[in-house]
Amino acid sequence: MNKIRLAVIFGGKSTEHEVSLVSGSAVINAADKEKYDIVPVGITKAGEWRLYKGLEGASGAAFDSAIQAIKTGKWTADSEPIDPWKLPEICDFALPILHGKNGEDGTIQGLFELLGIPYGGCGVLGSATAMDKTVAKKIFESEGLRQAPYVDFTSAEIGQSVIERINRELKYPLFVKPVNLGSSVGITKVTEPEELLPAIEYAKGFDRRFCVEQAVNKARELEISVMGNDDLFLGRVGEIVPRQAFYTYDAKYNDDSSELLIPAPIGPDEEWKIRKMASAAYKALGCCGFARCDFLMDGDTHDIYINEINTIPGFTEISMFPKLCIAAGMTYPQVIDRIVELGYERYNAENNR
Ligand SMILES: Nc1ncnc2c1ncn2[C@@H]1O[C@H](COP(=O)(O)OP(=O)(O)O)[C@@H](O)[C@H]1O
Ligand SMILES: [Mg+2]
Repeated sequence: MNKIRLAVIFGGKSTEHEVSLVSGSAVINAADKEKYDIVPVGITKAGEWRLYKGLEGASGAAFDSAIQAIKTGKWTADSEPIDPWKLPEICDFALPILHGKNGEDGTIQGLFELLGIPYGGCGVLGSATAMDKTVAKKIFESEGLRQAPYVDFTSAEIGQSVIERINRELKYPLFVKPVNLGSSVGITKVTEPEELLPAIEYAKGFDRRFCVEQAVNKARELEISVMGNDDLFLGRVGEIVPRQAFYTYDAKYNDDSSELLIPAPIGPDEEWKIRKMASAAYKALGCCGFARCDFLMDGDTHDIYINEINTIPGFTEISMFPKLCIAAGMTYPQVIDRIVELGYERYNAENNR
């Protein structure tokens, strides 16, 4: 059997460039080399697409150092520019391991659609709906999924009436969020009304649409991995115990003191509820392939709130998504195999093959 030329795409223009390098290098490291010829494609912070040459013919220590070069951002030194439009000439399947804007929001998925190549993860629709916190909330609402009360607005609407509406409809503390970012970038927890406007001004540096959300009481962070197009495979539920005030960018990637509890210490009916909510949310947003669904649980009442769906969650060795799949009986390489299979399955179904 011919090997699949698997383009693993990492880096990107988003604020989560560095995280993507770590995730992408982990995927390249783990992917089954009997099945795939890895085509490592990096996107620089400036948005330039480059083919990394360091993996070519590398094995043993050379392979390890090539992985390290991707992880630490040193890969560009040994790379050459490529034209994204020519991607179909160098790969059979594209696997974007990009986070945030241009990677997780449907834009690069649109490019793969135009190129006519199969790719891993959500399509344009699921990526775009999941990425936009406000649109996702409106869809969750229509499914009757419990979520924290929120007020959404655009930068043009910032002013006294929005502030009044937030103060009237929501109880402090609040979370002020730009709608289109991830990794906690641009998010502020606000405990007093005086802090609200500065937090919105700060968020304005990142986006033009915002969502202010009431904090879930003593929130516990629970996450579940989902894989599938039609029949869904759900992993176990995991819990993150952040050491910082909330699960910030630093806590996620720079500080390994946050603890992951897998499986989460919750009751079977709570796990069942999360599985049910995750399936409904994933389908409602139009997700396919894979995603991680994030929940918040009230620390006192144990009420469960859906928070968001991440369509390209962290894939590092210490990330929740692969760990939750592994806890449900898969190996890391099998997770990658399944993502590729699901990508082909969807491609074939959509192209009547
Ligand atoms: N309504 C909320 N109640 C309690 N904590 C929240 C709430 N919204 C966000 N947080 C905290 O902020 C973190 C980041 O918010 P999230 O909406 O998940 O954004 P991101 O897309 O950046 O991950 C969450 O993991 C959680 O720690
Ligand atoms: Mg999150």
